[in-house]
Amino acid sequence: MSDHLQHLPPGLPEHRRRLFAARLERWLPDLDTALAAVYDDPATVRDRLVALAARAFAARPEELHDLDLRRSLAPDWFQRPEAVGYAAYAERFGGDLRGVGERAAYLESLGVTYLHLMPLLTPRPAPNDGGYAVQDYRSVREDLGTLDDLVALTASLRERGISLCLDLVLNHVAREHEWAVRARAGDPTYRAYFHVLEDRAEVDTWEATLPEVFPDFAPGNFTFDPDLDAYVWTTFNDYQWDVDWSNPDVLCEYADLVLLHANHGVEVFRLDAIAFIHKRLGTSCQNQPEVHDLTQALRTVARIACPAVAFKAEAIVGPQDLMPYLGTGRHHGKVSDLAYHNSLMVQVWSMLASREVGLASHALRRLPPPPSTTAWITYARCHDDIGWAIDDGDAAAIGVSGHGHRSFLSDFYSGDFPGSWARGLVFQENAATGDRRISGSLASLAGLEAGDPLARARIRLVHALVAGFGGLPVIWMGDELGLLNDPCWADDPAHADDNRWVHRPVMPAEVTDEHGVLADTRALLAARAATPHLHAATPAEVLEPRDPGVLLVLRRHPLGPMLGCYNVTDGPRHVPVEVLHEVGLDPARLHDRLTGHAPLVRGGAVALPAYGAAWLTTPD
Ligand code: GLC
Repeated sequence: MSDHLQHLPPGLPEHRRRLFAARLERWLPDLDTALAAVYDDPATVRDRLVALAARAFAARPEELHDLDLRRSLAPDWFQRPEAVGYAAYAERFGGDLRGVGERAAYLESLGVTYLHLMPLLTPRPAPNDGGYAVQDYRSVREDLGTLDDLVALTASLRERGISLCLDLVLNHVAREHEWAVRARAGDPTYRAYFHVLEDRAEVDTWEATLPEVFPDFAPGNFTFDPDLDAYVWTTFNDYQWDVDWSNPDVLCEYADLVLLHANHGVEVFRLDAIAFIHKRLGTSCQNQPEVHDLTQALRTVARIACPAVAFKAEAIVGPQDLMPYLGTGRHHGKVSDLAYHNSLMVQVWSMLASREVGLASHALRRLPPPPSTTAWITYARCHDDIGWAIDDGDAAAIGVSGHGHRSFLSDFYSGDFPGSWARGLVFQENAATGDRRISGSLASLAGLEAGDPLARARIRLVHALVAGFGGLPVIWMGDELGLLNDPCWADDPAHADDNRWVHRPVMPAEVTDEHGVLADTRALLAARAATPHLHAATPAEVLEPRDPGVLLVLRRHPLGPMLGCYNVTDGPRHVPVEVLHEVGLDPARLHDRLTGHAPLVRGGAVALPAYGAAWLTTPD
């Protein structure tokens, strides 16, 4: 231990040295086990990481040390019902980082406590996958501002109680990133940062089990690079080069980046495309166990130097692969604090299209509860398309074909299905698998663009589900207002082949509430903040449906049960009082947290109008 303390500068106050020593004592065992699972020489890697952590700890601004203390006193800050997230492109929301700061009052008025700004570090020139092809992780995109602006933004957001979440693209860098430039110039150290394959036969052996992420505009997973005179692994676009995390230099580089931006006041790192960072021959090269060891290693480094920092896993994977990102088995409580509940998102849209909750109930009931110190990110839409991550086994269990249902959902949300009110676009049609993903804004997918009279109620229901499931709800910019698809999405030639831009509109300078959606969202978030039952440490239990059109979500909180009831159909439905008795609610003493009143109980049942939701508890 004393060896490690040598990395601290001599002038550091004694209480800081003791704090660092205490953190090492707490976290080194986790770091060691994680490294031992991945690297041949874990002790050397550990020493390098501790040296980085010591340097960052000593350089951490006083104000952020205070934040570390406050977060250690309230480690559940992101699990609380008052926690609400918002995600936006800085340039489309506020023009630049300063402009985002100017809009912070709006976010605060919505109740937002967490802001995910889409990639804002310097990308390669367009095309750059919306900034996900980073050329320099140590500078801010010129048109958005400077590192000083970033520091000023995190500080001003923090004053309003808003934590900034930054994208950390872990799986790949731009072909123009310095590491790739050096590799292309023949530097063997940097060539070893990438997966470089000399031989086409070897590429084919890997390809045999790899799916394609962008089959349409970037087929295959490898790109021949003339400078390397070899193939380089490119899971996404040909200009996004996958880095090789089995090389400890790569881990140390990224650890250093986490520490750097943590000291700029970033509080949450979104670990982009994390499912892909470890490759194993003969597999899909997603969700490998080492992914979780690597996350654990990064997280321990952050815990040592800047424990206010939380990690959010972006793993858009099948339902059965999701849970390990919040920590299962030996990684329990040691990996990401937050992870996207992709399965819930998909099931929300599936329920609306089919007007049935059977599949969603079955699939969600199969997921174990998340570790009590973590939270799902619950969301209806994000900047990406919707891929129909519906498990064939789940579909078969309720007697439908997975393929058939996924196909129905694509037809429905592209507006092709007779009677559909959705106005989405097909993204990345895959001729080999028949997959068709969907782009579109929440409002356009929910019927507002088509003029469906029930669209507002549908949007309200979707938000109620997302805010009431338990977890940290994140609203995608504009969805709180019901912004429609952007008809001009393809005008920018750099976007023209990527229709995800259809649901990435520019936020109007003046926010107006044309459809009443904003008022609904505000009321919903206020109701959520006042509902302690929604703390994410209390798991959501999806009940067996009693009515095929009503999803029932129970939360057994120490204050008493809360039953979330969601009618996914366009007609009135009800919740029989027997269910209330079963879960411990007294039908004569009911309080609907969403309306603030007692619910309508008619003929021995709680009545739910078309697309109605209720959060039933006993009165305070
Ligand atoms: C993530 C991002 C997506 C991007 C991909 C590659 O999935 O959400 O927008 O295309 O990573 O970085």
